[in-house]
Amino acid sequence: MAPMAGYTDYAFRSLCAEYACTDNSPVSPRFFTVTEMVSVKAMYYKDLKTYALLKPNTGSICGAQLFGNEADCFAAAAETVSDMGFGFIDINAGCPMPKIYNNGSGSALLNTPKLLGKIVSATVKASEIPVTVKMRVSENDSISTEDIARICEYNGAAAVTIHARTRAQYYSGVADRDVIKRVVEAVAIPVIGNGDIASIDNARIVREYTGCNGVMLGRAALGNPFVFSGTVPTFADIITAVKRHTDLAVADKGERVFRELRAHYAHYFKGFTGAAELRKLAVSVADYDGFNALLDTALSRYGN
Ligand SMILES: Cc1cc2nc3c(=O)[nH]c(=O)nc-3n(C[C@H](O)[C@H](O)[C@H](O)COP(=O)(O)O)c2cc1C
Repeated sequence: MAPMAGYTDYAFRSLCAEYACTDNSPVSPRFFTVTEMVSVKAMYYKDLKTYALLKPNTGSICGAQLFGNEADCFAAAAETVSDMGFGFIDINAGCPMPKIYNNGSGSALLNTPKLLGKIVSATVKASEIPVTVKMRVSENDSISTEDIARICEYNGAAAVTIHARTRAQYYSGVADRDVIKRVVEAVAIPVIGNGDIASIDNARIVREYTGCNGVMLGRAALGNPFVFSGTVPTFADIITAVKRHTDLAVADKGERVFRELRAHYAHYFKGFTGAAELRKLAVSVADYDGFNALLDTALSRYGN
């Protein structure tokens, strides 16, 4: 599952691991999660809110995603993160948001490949767990996406994920699967394909077309932890997932988490008659009473 700021917190990652790992092994070797992106600079300043994001979920191998623009801060963060129970560290070289990009972090690192190489190398040296890089497509004529992937490999990255869009595309336009294919041919480390993969069939097509070693799904998992096993949920299944998600989230963050859960509820209640009414009710849920009232409405109107 892809890292998604504001969504892939401890509770949602744990939930998806529960739904994805259907092979009865306690920790599936085939399903991975990644935290929301975490600032190495904020870690350096010991920001408590930042540390709270660094909690590996249960039920699967979990990566900690780091962003920033200074190799020293990455190294310090890597040392800390290595001891926290994560399976790997993922370096963010793809975030397009102006706040991140204008600071020379995220997808801006694609324009400064030497610095990216230094960051990968410093992180690998300081880390006791594998280091991966998540990147976008280069929009710089002087360096190709394949070359940036080679730089990551040369500096010790254990794998690269290619979100097959440029920074300028943000999240629109079609992900370019040919770029994934070219990177697969250019490097010897595993390549994970990402962008617009919405189902197991899709995943299979991308793997067959590009030869990539794995796929990463982001938006298709929102409100849909079933996507990883390919199950088609009934309405009752959706309600069960919403309840489980809510219980995990409240246990982790307390009832204040309902504000954050509203965004998730909007994704669960989508694509069926009456869903809009439920989304409208969900935006004012602030505690368990409100939540139970929402469920009562859902079950009484749409439960059959
Ligand atoms: C709400 C949201 C938050 C995201 N946050 C991050 C992030 O923190 N780090 C990151 O590398 N990518 C982030 N992404 C990008 C996703 O990881 C993924 O690359 C992108 O959504 C394309 O995959 P998809 O088409 O399967 O959604 C985010 C995407 C969304 C929609």
